[in-house]
Amino acid sequence: MTQSLIDTFGRVHTDLRISVTDRCNFRCAYCMPEEGMEWLKREGILSYEEIERIARILVNDAGVKTIRLTGGEPTVRARLTILVERLAKLGVELSMTTNGATLALIANDLRAAGLTRLNISIDTLHEDRFYQLTKRNELPRVLEGIDAAVAAGFDPVKLNVVPMRGINHDEILDFLHFGREKGVIVRFIEFMPLDAQSEWSNERVITAKEILTTAATEFNFSPITRGSSPAERFAYADGSGEFGVIASVTEPFCEACDRIRLTADGQLRNCLFALGHTDLRGLLRSGASDAEIVAAVAGEVRQKWAGHSINQVHFIRPSKSMSQLGG
Ligand code: 5AD
Ligand code: SF4
Repeated sequence: MTQSLIDTFGRVHTDLRISVTDRCNFRCAYCMPEEGMEWLKREGILSYEEIERIARILVNDAGVKTIRLTGGEPTVRARLTILVERLAKLGVELSMTTNGATLALIANDLRAAGLTRLNISIDTLHEDRFYQLTKRNELPRVLEGIDAAVAAGFDPVKLNVVPMRGINHDEILDFLHFGREKGVIVRFIEFMPLDAQSEWSNERVITAKEILTTAATEFNFSPITRGSSPAERFAYADGSGEFGVIASVTEPFCEACDRIRLTADGQLRNCLFALGHTDLRGLLRSGASDAEIVAAVAGEVRQKWAGHSINQVHFIRPSKSMSQLGG
């Protein structure tokens, strides 16, 4: 029997984000500490069989319609294409968020395995800044990766850019030009207080409003009607594509949130900022039935609160970083 994952505010959850690893080949300050990160142990991480089982149950019996693979960096997990192949067979829309560094090598294989949409995270087009931000000299690889993604036929390819004051705030127009040239959709995401090194402050956030004001100094564009996506989308007046802005801090889209998240160690979380979770790994490994798993997930979704409260006095920063939560 199919039931829907509905919370007490009436939001139906159809988007499952699966973190396949907490590891990453980069060290972005806003995502994980440069040193001293305690990685999950191998036996603690869900196997591909376990991930596939949870995904299958949630698609077949709980109304999940879209799945996104995340990390850490998903492509550092060995033989990722095998998991992609298995999940693609579920008939859902399958996407992935990646830092792009390995795409030149594997974009074709991922596409052939059934992945259709790609989000690539890139916050600067300058090599020196890229090193400061990621502690890796991989900008050329990421740029090759973007080209490889487009060439492999991913549609859409989106670039996730987090503008931060004093760091890369002056690159908004450069990124818009870059996106138009490459035929990819640039999406600016407001900087959220999820950074492992606590570099976040309100002053660092470049707001959606500022981004649009900057964009308007060089481009003509108009809003496209917003679907379920958290991004406000804008089409260029000259017909050369679109860009987006995700106002996660100044105009949270929580009232339309349809996401649940599975961490690499099998915890189900109902929100990026959730303080609790449900341990699906324990259930799986103690022989729970499909129905018991659906019931546990449905129960976690019912606990979901109305939304995050960044900027309110009672906001509690989650103890997990983005790399552990999966973006
Ligand atoms: N605020 C906003 N976005 C973030 N990301 C990582 N950390 C933050 C943060 N603190 C983005 C990455 C990636 C996605 C998974 O989340 O750039 O695109
Ligand atoms: Fe959904 Fe939580 Fe993000 Fe709000 S903050 S959109 S509830 S995941």
